[in-house]
Amino acid sequence: MQNFDNKVAFVTGAASGIGLALCKALLNAGSKVMMADIDADGLEAAAKGLGVDDSRISTIVCDVKSAESVNAAAQATIDAFGQVHIVMNNAGVGLGGYPGSIPLDDWRWITDINLLGVVYGVEAFVPLMQAHGEGGYIVNTASMAGHISSPGMAPYHATKFAVVGYTETLAQELAPLNIGVSVLCPTWVKSNIHNTASKRPSADPKNPLPTSKLTETLKNLVENGISPDTLADLVLKSMQAKRLYIFNDPEAKVAISMRHKVISDDYDACLSDLGLS
Ligand SMILES: NC(=O)c1ccc[n+]([C@@H]2O[C@H](COP(=O)([O-])OP(=O)(O)OC[C@H]3O[C@@H](n4cnc5c(N)ncnc54)[C@H](O)[C@@H]3O)[C@@H](O)[C@H]2O)c1
Repeated sequence: MQNFDNKVAFVTGAASGIGLALCKALLNAGSKVMMADIDADGLEAAAKGLGVDDSRISTIVCDVKSAESVNAAAQATIDAFGQVHIVMNNAGVGLGGYPGSIPLDDWRWITDINLLGVVYGVEAFVPLMQAHGEGGYIVNTASMAGHISSPGMAPYHATKFAVVGYTETLAQELAPLNIGVSVLCPTWVKSNIHNTASKRPSADPKNPLPTSKLTETLKNLVENGISPDTLADLVLKSMQAKRLYIFNDPEAKVAISMRHKVISDDYDACLSDLGLS
């Protein structure tokens, strides 16, 4: 995607953090934006804060863990702007814990939002992009946690690895339809992601956020992360450059290489055991 002027974009998780910054960057580049989020009050405040003419911005309360809600948001986008060219499936939540300690309803909750929420966005919007024939672009937000793993964050890693694999497949499937695809893989961006576990089904209303050394560390890293506006500008540049992966972390590349080395070493060892190398 070279030119954002007069394009119509749909962004989930638009009330806060990265999603809000993406909306800002798209509006600055000349697009019209449908902002979608489950947080009605936050969404209204975020949209108002952007100070953009009503003809270029609209909002829809949308819960990405419901296909019906995402379909209704897609229809609202068409009703507001006539067509859609850019879809950013960005809404996401965090959840950690160790085996034996994570309620299965919490696992289902994060999977419904972080993985199926992305799938619902693709299912709802690809036919709409195909229908106008002008091409389009999808950005799915995964994470660096979709490339490397660390203890205590299995539900987050599992959903984000899945979004990376899903998006790699989509890139191959949608290229013939002139729909570009990128997977956003950020590390530590200043946002509210460290508070989202408070919405998990098992949260105690009196004390919704789990506290541990790990959650404190994550909170500090997010609060000292890069500006979401810097990341959003990188996303638009990466769309213009048609990059499949979008990264911002100067240090994590070595960890990805180490993961690939373990895969390569184990692969060779297995082939050797089979007498195939
Ligand atoms: N902040 C980071 O360091 C970081 C790093 C890697 C990846 N990410 C990913 O970036 C994305 C955006 O997160 P953020 O950091 O801006 O956090 P954030 O909490 O500031 O924003 C997330 C937004 O998603 C919305 N949301 C949550 N559940 C929803 C649902 N069911 N339906 C619709 N909207 C919902 C929230 O209301 C919120 O406005 C997430 O997918 C997150 O996993 C963030």
